[in-house]
Amino acid sequence: MITITFIDHQQQATTVQAAPGSSLMQAAVDNHITGIVGECGGFCSCATCVCQVEAAWVGRLPPPEAMESAMLESAAADHPASRLCCQIALNADLDGLTVHLPESQF
Ligand code: FES
Repeated sequence: MITITFIDHQQQATTVQAAPGSSLMQAAVDNHITGIVGECGGFCSCATCVCQVEAAWVGRLPPPEAMESAMLESAAADHPASRLCCQIALNADLDGLTVHLPESQF
C-alpha cells in the first residue's frame, strides 16, 4: 500500500493508504477526503479534484499532459504546484506523497 497525506486549507492533515494503480483522486474519494469531489470520475473534464503538490514532491511526478494543463488553466488553478488528482497514478515511488487541498473546488 502507498501512504498519502492530504492537508486541507486549515492545515488539518489526514493520512490514508491507497493501492498502487489507483489515482490520487480515487484514494481521496475512497477515504472521504473533504475537498476532493471527482465529479467526472477521473476523465479530466471537471476540475473538481485540484490539489497542490507539496514542494518536495513536485519534481517526482510526471509533468501534466496538455489536457490536464488546459483544465487547470480553465479552473484558474494557477499555482505552479497545482495538479488534478485524477491524473496522478499512484505507484510505489509516490509512497509518502503529500498534497494540499484548496478551500473549495472550481
Ligand atoms: S475528477 Fe474530474 S478532472 Fe479530475
